[in-house]
Amino acid sequence: MKVSLTVCMILCLTSIVHADQGKAVFFEPPYSPSACYGTQSYGNMVAGVSDALWNNGRACGKSYRVKCIGGANEAPHPCKNGNTAVVKVVDYCKAGCQGIINLSKHAFSTIADPDAGIIQVEFNEV
Ligand SMILES: *[C@@H]1O[C@H](CO)[C@@H](O)[C@H](O)[C@H]1NC(C)=O
Repeated sequence: MKVSLTVCMILCLTSIVHADQGKAVFFEPPYSPSACYGTQSYGNMVAGVSDALWNNGRACGKSYRVKCIGGANEAPHPCKNGNTAVVKVVDYCKAGCQGIINLSKHAFSTIADPDAGIIQVEFNEV
């Protein structure tokens, strides 16, 4: 009883702490070719990630649930009410990338107003 409580405290805490935060930008279609899959298309809910997540291409194919948590510039209230988007990593956002994650415009506009251009997000691998 005491042990399982302790285990839950550790696991439950880990799953909360696990969400990372960073900035997200977006890019316009077409969403291929991509650094991971060449000309093969993986639909509209895709993203590129910068060095912090890219891990030499091992990020390819991973899925992230992304949620807008605030603005990252002077644009007021860019977030769309608690919406989340699940995106598949298909691309590399090169050095100079302004965000940790470069979302397809489809994904970005699901969670925020694209007029903002850049937003603060919370994300975790799913
Ligand atoms: C986002 O990705 C697109 C397509 O790979 C790229 O052209 C664009 O420069 C990236 N945006 C940023 C801010 O790096």
